[in-house]
Amino acid sequence: MAGSRFEYVRKFESTENCLLSTYIVIRIDGRGFHRFCDTNAFEKPNDIRALNLMNKAARDSMDEFSDIFLSYGQSDEYSFVLKRSTNFFKRRKSKLISCIVSYFTATYIKNWSQFFSKEIVGFPHFDARIVCYPTKKALRDYFSWRQVDCHINNLYNTCFWNLVKVKGLTTKDAKLKLDKTVSKDKNELLFKDFNINYNNEKPIFRKGTILIQSKTESFHKDLVKNDIFWEEEIFKISE
Ligand code: GTP
Ligand code: MG
Repeated sequence: MAGSRFEYVRKFESTENCLLSTYIVIRIDGRGFHRFCDTNAFEKPNDIRALNLMNKAARDSMDEFSDIFLSYGQSDEYSFVLKRSTNFFKRRKSKLISCIVSYFTATYIKNWSQFFSKEIVGFPHFDARIVCYPTKKALRDYFSWRQVDCHINNLYNTCFWNLVKVKGLTTKDAKLKLDKTVSKDKNELLFKDFNINYNNEKPIFRKGTILIQSKTESFHKDLVKNDIFWEEEIFKISE
């Protein structure tokens, strides 16, 4: 079909592609979820229904985009990794990022009622970024970074909400009490004041959730030190 005289505008489009043979990571993050979680009365610090809904949306996204071989989620974020060899959308960044984040959002909203008895309030939406990682080590370090972030936030939030909900501190005082504490102090506080052994908290809260293409189960394993898991379960399907 003959082009119109307006067609030249296409030349302004960005067609940036991911580098060849790299792992492609797309991380989505709920925008303004602090408010969205409050509006929908999510339990604090962790609402298992919300985490299960995130996991369902991630699993649906992996079913739709079969080149995603690994996903990791915690709080309001999810990371998806495409195989090194993927040629999906010719590795074009804008297409990859927009398709995955919009598909995830659509299934999050569609499946809401499977997990929550009250109707959804507001319009959950997610930002997304795309990063190419050239080596296995960089990919592992990326996931270690996200899992350590999960640990740091969850330990803090577990202390914070126990101080507020169980001990009756104001949020301001709870924050002050936790300022300048390190992990050891927080573990001790939980044990002494609330009889909580942090290591016995649910693994899904402490470690986040790992989904692997072709495995129906979800994992809540350590990603930082677990060489066997990476070699036996993840890297075997990563090429
Ligand atoms: P932006 O991502 O910068 O737009 O901000 P945000 O408000 O989404 O905060 P951020 O992504 O930094 O952190 C996620 C926020 O989601 C947390 O601070 C919590 O407020 C909220 N959140 C995530 N999971 C839960 C949950 O299970 N229960 C509750 N109550 N809140 C949660
Ligand atoms: Mg967010």
